[in-house]
Amino acid sequence: MKHLLSIDDLGPEGIEAILDLSESFSEVTQREIPKVPALRGKTVVSLFYEDSTRTRISFETAAKRLSADTMSFTISSSSVKKGESLLDTVQTIEAMGIDAIVVRHHAAGAPHRIAQWTDASVINAGDGRHEHPTQALLDCFTLRRHRGPSLAGSRIAIVGDIRHSRVARSNVKAFAALGAEVTLVAPPTLLPESLAGWPASVSYDLDAVLPDVDVVYLLRIQRERAEASRFPSLREYTARYGLTVERAARLKPDVLVMHPGPMNRGVEIAAEVADGPASLVREQVANGVAVRMAVLYSLLGSSSAYPRAAG
Ligand code: NCD
Repeated sequence: MKHLLSIDDLGPEGIEAILDLSESFSEVTQREIPKVPALRGKTVVSLFYEDSTRTRISFETAAKRLSADTMSFTISSSSVKKGESLLDTVQTIEAMGIDAIVVRHHAAGAPHRIAQWTDASVINAGDGRHEHPTQALLDCFTLRRHRGPSLAGSRIAIVGDIRHSRVARSNVKAFAALGAEVTLVAPPTLLPESLAGWPASVSYDLDAVLPDVDVVYLLRIQRERAEASRFPSLREYTARYGLTVERAARLKPDVLVMHPGPMNRGVEIAAEVADGPASLVREQVANGVAVRMAVLYSLLGSSSAYPRAAG
């Protein structure tokens, strides 16, 4: 595998292989010196055309823990402000001699274009409303640790702004590939125009779905992507679709709560629920580093199945 652009690049076996490798790297991240020489001499560039806190830091931490060199490119302090095209930017970066580009872009498909222009490996760190494959992998990893070894039969509700969510697109595919049953829960205005090909069922009624689920996966209301207001008010949204304290109290005792962040506390998730015992939010972030180490190693490392240094 040269690039990771979509969950489709992996398939069920590919996903499982990354998750297994992530377990080895998770062990590395627990060590006193959480670093292995696996990617010494390789250079990983992050190219972020959109704001990000956790994804960018997570990838850079992952690259550093594999002993790769890292370069970081932020548009606000670059020649993009002077009108440089994506192609010119990519060719300039490539001329420095690099091995991987981690790209986040507001346009769906931008990482696919970049992959056609460069010899480096390209990793999609979120493109428009399209995909965010490493988020899906870290969520599968986190869930497998709690509900594994298999996700077969796990019932997962993905709740909220599905329409604008690249996380939903990648996660539905990945969860379904591992055998989970996924239900999308949202008002009709926050669902995509077509759900053809989505391996999931749909409901507009969160209260009807909650008694039957094992996992509630909440999404942020993406105010920056919504063309016009798609619901009457945030208060109304919370009343019908928020995981409030009252709703959380009605869940089965072992139900898990997830969110990719950044959270709108008090909108899609109550602060008490986000910080409560059912919440995996912080584990998701922590696991992101190990999973991104596994992705970088799979694309750039030697052809052996397991990292010697981590074994
Ligand atoms: C998400 C993203 O940017 O796609 N966040 C993330 O990467 N953890 C989701 C979001 O912005 O709501």
